[in-house]
Amino acid sequence: MTDTDRERLRTVFGEDAELYDRARPEYPAPLFRDLTVLAGLTPRSRVLEIGCGTGQATDPLARLGCTVVAVELSSDMAAVAGRNLRHFPNVTIEVAPFESWTPPAAPFDLVVSATAFHWIDPDIRVHKAADVLRTDGTLALIHNEHVAGGTEQFFIDAQTCYERFDPKTPPGWRQAPAADIPDDASEIDDSQRFGPARFGRYEWEQSYTTRSYLDLLMTYSPTRSLPRPARDGLLACLGHLIDREHDGRISKRHLTRLTVARKRA
Ligand SMILES: C[S@@+](CC[C@H](N)C(=O)[O-])C[C@H]1O[C@@H](n2cnc3c(N)ncnc32)[C@H](O)[C@@H]1O
Repeated sequence: MTDTDRERLRTVFGEDAELYDRARPEYPAPLFRDLTVLAGLTPRSRVLEIGCGTGQATDPLARLGCTVVAVELSSDMAAVAGRNLRHFPNVTIEVAPFESWTPPAAPFDLVVSATAFHWIDPDIRVHKAADVLRTDGTLALIHNEHVAGGTEQFFIDAQTCYERFDPKTPPGWRQAPAADIPDDASEIDDSQRFGPARFGRYEWEQSYTTRSYLDLLMTYSPTRSLPRPARDGLLACLGHLIDREHDGRISKRHLTRLTVARKRA
């Protein structure tokens, strides 16, 4: 992705922050149990979250009692996060691009980014995360992957809609099984600022009605950035498929990956 594409596409989430908040799922609870152990989190921990969105990962960290500073690019996403997290005096949300955000003097014990790190400038993100961590502090990256499973026939048939309305779709493309998606800490390793990474993998399925699945798709940047006629055509095609072939309900399999590394002295 070019710098220009990244800077354009990363703004699409805030176009409809309420939809994002309604449609995007929370992360699996075992991920936060593992993160708590791997990062040694306690209620005294200071956590920085990059790209909090409307608070999908912020909420479980806030519930641990940690002090959480969340940096979010979109003022609309930050406003919804502020509403969702209003009962947590231990959470502060700051609206800024992480790249130019001014960190406080006190270092953090954990820097976490959930489905957001890839939107940050790759020349800056790992080193700035390391700079704001204490020695032995933890960088934790959470990634969501679309994987084979759930209502498999729907996802096979859905490709005809994508091939028709999204010219970037490779013909005959199929979702990969979760087992074929590797863990990857090459960017963290290459920075030489962190020790060896540890990994967690969490597979889960979620059931969607036609409406809630189309809403979910509208929270993804590739769908939001399609030209309007193609996007409308794609959503109508997928909606008909769910209604006609699957009685208005499908299930989708998700893989959430956790990558954790400790800052070197
Ligand atoms: C896919 S959303 C993830 C939101 C949330 N963390 C979640 O897990 O659902 C990516 C978020 O990163 C934010 N973002 C993108 N670029 C950013 C930047 N340079 N600095 C801070 N936040 C950024 C977007 O506004 C958006 O809220």
